[in-house]
Amino acid sequence: MAESFVLNTGARIPSVGLGVWQIQPDAAVNAIYAAVKAGYRHIDCAPAYSNEKEIHGPIRIKKGTSITSPENFIPTDIPTTWAAMEKLYESGKARAIGVSNFSCKKLDDLFAVARVPPAVNQVECHPVWQQDKLRKLCQSKGVHLSAFSPLGSPGSPGINGSSVLENSIVVSVAEKLQKTPAQVALRWGIQMGHSVLPKSANESRIKENIDIFDWSIPEDLMAKFSEIKQVRLLRAEFAVHPQGGYNTLEDFWDGEI
Ligand code: A2P
Repeated sequence: MAESFVLNTGARIPSVGLGVWQIQPDAAVNAIYAAVKAGYRHIDCAPAYSNEKEIHGPIRIKKGTSITSPENFIPTDIPTTWAAMEKLYESGKARAIGVSNFSCKKLDDLFAVARVPPAVNQVECHPVWQQDKLRKLCQSKGVHLSAFSPLGSPGSPGINGSSVLENSIVVSVAEKLQKTPAQVALRWGIQMGHSVLPKSANESRIKENIDIFDWSIPEDLMAKFSEIKQVRLLRAEFAVHPQGGYNTLEDFWDGEI
């Protein structure tokens, strides 16, 4: 399995990146250092994570404010935002531009107005939320799917942390292959064609999470993953606020929940 995927602009994206959402700012520095030493060349960061001094989903806030308070939300204007990103791409400042947390509908709406198609859609994706419909749409449009929370974000507020790493199918495949459940969840992701962004602040887990290239999950075991009950773990309740134009979670995810 390739250690990187080729985007629709010709740029390459490394298949394993370090997620830094929810790593404390001082720990983020050490985690990034450990990751680069271990061979990572892809770091997922955003000001919305509050550990970087850009944007991370179909949400818009008043200039100069933060995403943490819903009173700062204003309705999105995706065509205008995308046009600004197209300028960045055309000026050579970005080798590829993409979106995050876009449903099939939002992606279709964007394709209707984009001159430069998005290269990436970064979304929650792991064995318990496999994004079949979105993955097929992305594949048909040449958009790379990048998976955040590829381990199911155990320990994050509001998340049933055990659901991916303790899933009985993930655990049994790991036992058969003599790998850890985390490695199996990540390897499943890259075999499905996604890049994966496991977050860790721990050097040995950072190394473990990129040690997934010299073995693979055989086809018969890959097939087992289709038996896993599907649940969106990160529902983004915080994004529901009339000021931002989303009155319900159904609105935000366009029914993909
Ligand atoms: P830690 O930072 O202590 O390693 P996700 O990437 O899905 O958001 O999950 C991140 C969570 O999973 C963090 O709590 C992280 O804890 C933990 N984690 C990261 N790598 C592993 C691993 N290899 N095994 C078990 N837990 C892991």
